[in-house]
Formats: sequence, C-alpha cells, structure tokens
Amino acid sequence: MLQDGKLYIGTSRKPDDTNDKPEYLELKFGNRHGLVTGATGTGKTVTLQILAEGFSNAGVPVFCADVKGDLSGIGAMGEAKDFLEKRAQQIGLEPYDFQEFPVIFWDLFGEKGHRVRTTISEMGPLLLSRLMNATDAQEGVINIAFKIADQGGLPLLDLKDLQALLNYMGENASALSNQFGFISKASVGSIQRELLILEQQGAVQFFGEPALKISDIMRTTNDGRGAISVLAADKLMMNPRLYGTFLLWMLSELFEVLPEVGDPEKPKLVFFFDEAHLLFNDAPKVLIERVEQVVRLIRSKGVGVYFVTQNPLDVPETVLAQLGNRVQHALRAYTPREQKAVKTAADTFRPNPDFDCATVITQLGTGEALVSTLEGKGAPSMVERTLIRPPASRLGPISDAERQDIMKVSPVAGLYDEDFDRESAYEILMARAKKAADAAAQQAEADQAGQQPSGGSRWTLPGFGDEEPAASSAPKQAKPRTGYQRETVAEAAMKSVARTVASSLGRALVRGILGSLRR
Ligand SMILES: Nc1ncnc2c1ncn2[C@@H]1O[C@H](COP(=O)(O)OP(=O)(O)OP(=O)(O)O)[C@@H](O)[C@H]1O
Ligand SMILES: [Mg+2]
Repeated sequence: MLQDGKLYIGTSRKPDDTNDKPEYLELKFGNRHGLVTGATGTGKTVTLQILAEGFSNAGVPVFCADVKGDLSGIGAMGEAKDFLEKRAQQIGLEPYDFQEFPVIFWDLFGEKGHRVRTTISEMGPLLLSRLMNATDAQEGVINIAFKIADQGGLPLLDLKDLQALLNYMGENASALSNQFGFISKASVGSIQRELLILEQQGAVQFFGEPALKISDIMRTTNDGRGAISVLAADKLMMNPRLYGTFLLWMLSELFEVLPEVGDPEKPKLVFFFDEAHLLFNDAPKVLIERVEQVVRLIRSKGVGVYFVTQNPLDVPETVLAQLGNRVQHALRAYTPREQKAVKTAADTFRPNPDFDCATVITQLGTGEALVSTLEGKGAPSMVERTLIRPPASRLGPISDAERQDIMKVSPVAGLYDEDFDRESAYEILMARAKKAADAAAQQAEADQAGQQPSGGSRWTLPGFGDEEPAASSAPKQAKPRTGYQRETVAEAAMKSVARTVASSLGRALVRGILGSLRR
C-alpha cells in the first residue's frame, strides 16, 4: 500500500461500501498545488496532518500553520486509540505504525516556537500596505518611502526605522515631492498613526533582525526526512491581517529566493495555507492578481501550495483553477451560499458514474472525503469517495513541556531566539550606509554644492540618538562640510540617496511580484 513516489491518502469505497482502491498523491505532481475543504469538524486538519507526514517521509520539507494548536501533535508519537485502529482496519492499512516527525516550531511571538521575523525592507511596499489596509493615498506614500530607502541602499529594519523615515518625509515633503512624486503630509501622518496601531497589535515583534532564512524551513534530517515547520498561529489569528500578510510574505520570499527547477521528481517544499480565506478576504484586486501569478509561477520552483479552507468559494476562481490535488470533505447545504459552494465543489471534479458528487458531498462522514489527484500526464483522476487514513503521529496537541523539549534540540535553536540589540542594528545600518555613501562620494565631489538635501532637517534613525544633543545644541545652519562622520549616518545616507538619484546610478534594490526583494 505504501509505494515509492506516491503518498497514500486513504482508500476509496464503492457504493455498496466495499473497499475499492488505495488513493495516492503522486509526488511528481506534488508541486501542482492542492485544496482541502470542508465544514468545521469534518477532518481537514487531520488530512493536512497525514499529507504533511507523507511529504516528510518522502524527504519533502513542509511548512504549515497551526491555527488551533491541534496540529502540534505531529511532533509526537501517535497513540493507539479505538477509533484510529478501527479506521486503519476499515481501509486495510496494515500494519498501522506510529511515528513521530521532525518538527520545527515557529511563532511570531516567540512563545510556542522559534521567533520568525522579517525586516520592513524585505516585506516591501505591497504587503506592508496590505498589512495596514492602506488607502490609495497612503499606499502612494509608502511606495515613495520604499523608493527612497531602496535607492539609497538604506535598510528599514523595524517599525521604528520606518517611522523615522516617515518623519523625514513629512519634514521635507515639498523638497522630496519634486524628486519622487507627490507626498501628502496628511497621508504621512495617517500612516504613522496606523503604524502605532500595528505596533500595539503585536506586529512590532515581527519586524526586526535576525530575519528568517528561507533555508531554515527547507531542512531535511540525516535519515532523509523533510522537516515539518509548524507555525503557532492561535494567537496570530487574533490579527487575521497580520496572519494573512505573513503567509503571503513567506510565499513571496520562497518565490524570490528559490531557483527554477522545472518539474522535479518531488517538491522542494510544500506549503499549507490553513484558513486560506483570510488571505483573500477584502484583499484588493491587484493583490489577488499577484497572488494568482505567484501561485502559478512558484510551481516551477518546486513549491506546492495547498489551501485549506471551509468553503471552496473562499478561494478566487483564478487560484482555484490551479489547484490540482483535491480533498473535499463534507459541506452543509442549508443556505443558498452553502448550496452554491456544494455545486462549485462538485463541478470541479472529474465525475464518477457511480455517484452524484453534489449529493455525496453533503453525506460524507468525518474523516471521509471526495478525492481527486493528478495522474498520468497530469490530468485529474476520477473523483473517488475516500476514507482518509489515520495519522501516524499524535492526533491533537502536544504539551508545553514536550514542545519545549523539541525546541531545545531543534536545528535552529538559539538562532532566532534573541533580538539583535540596538547596537547590532546600528552596526548593520552604519556599514550599509557607509558603503552607500562611499560609493557615491567620489563621483559626487564635483556637484556636491548644489545637491544637499534641505539643510537643518535632522533625520535620526533609532540607534543614532547619541547624535541628537550635539545637533540640537549647536547652531545647525552653517555646518562646515568636514565629511560625513560629522553627520548622522542617516543624514549621510540621505545625501547619498540624493546623489544617486541625481546621477541615476542604478543602485536601487529590485522588487518582485509581491514586492519582496529580488535576490
Ligand atoms: N482520517 C481520520 N481518521 C480518524 N479520525 C479522523 C480522521 N479525520 C478526522 N477524524 C476525527 O474527526 C475530528 C475532527 O477532525 P479535524 O480536526 O481534522 O476537523 P477540521 O475539519 O479541521 O475542523 P475545524 O474546521 O474545526 O478545524 C478529529 O479530531 C478526529 O477525531
Ligand atoms: Mg481544523
């Protein structure tokens, strides 16, 4: 029943209730994406668990979010329970072995897993605007902020860096508007207030360094199994937009970082989007289009994306059309919207003459689903009514003590647990800014006189505070040019921005489809 190159999902049955055949997901089609849907309590999380187990055993790293805490048991050995043994027997899974899986726990808040962070620079303007639910005017200003920072090689690490840049933009709005496009002071102010709200909601934890390295979610063990990264998302779910934006950022990073591989024998990584409706809820059209584009293109980088959600209507049609491997659990059909969902779900399957899809969807039992996967040359298999296999790892959550034990021996233990303190961030900023300034300094000597940004504007990044007393006590206007060491590093960086722009020396960072940095 367990075959090479295939991941066993469960066993289908005929209308007379006899076993039909084992149902598989072929690893070589694992990057052709998937969809797991069903009403609450119908078995979606368990399906996600057995798929993650299968991929891990096949050597494919997995990333998934644990929305209710009940997926964490995947890191612990399964335990014999009557209903699990019964299911194993029903489907002819023999022997039914238990197993624990190599799990890396992650948590934006650093409580139930290793910290996950990124920098403002790496997230980019599109996703940041989404995170802030920015208006068009605000998004325009955010775009300009990134343009200024990107062109100057000025890293924005955390929310405070962005605040500082916005201060600078507010103070110099008219001068900068000439160069970069209109900057409305009112929009700058409203973004700053939004950032404060974000900060209070916990986003402050998420921005900073050390930023997550994508290679750390693509690890395999010595015995050739794929690590399963489990993101603790119960607390995160209280801020659905942060949750959605974070997952999109991950997708975007994967897309920008990974090389093209075409169609590999098995995926390089499988990425599960639980509560997928949160990605798309009131998302602007352009964002949905970009997501659709990334999902389409990331396949050839060997990444399989699996959306898990209650209702297939939660996923935009253009995305839905790309999801090749499908597990449809039971749906209710009381309201017109529910009936429409049933119809949509039924219509997307290649029909099976033995039964009517729409009828069966409302009759499926717990842990039972309509399954269709890609086969042959990549066409969908005929839909089958399938009893999903029971998991080999523990069903339900693990204890806090077990979680701590796993985190202690994790391959990333100690790498992300501490914030870089201010001083470290300062060094990074200093080094990068100095390099930028140095590069620009030589060719800018000639035209330096005319190109100074408006004098008297002091722009100080966090960590440069020691410059402040001197700057404010000394008269500012007639400062002699004795080199940038007398200025704040940030000021030097800003000048280098001005010079770079003036001389169109293309140092600008390049951003990809979802606005992440190209690398
Ligand atoms: N394949 C399976 N084998 C045995 N039992 C299962 C299976 N799938 C689901 N179950 C049983 O059904 C329960 C609910 O399943 P699950 O938690 O996966 O539902 P869900 O669709 O994720 O629900 P929710 O929408 O509330 O998150 C499980 O705790 C388990 O007892
Ligand atoms: Mg669930």
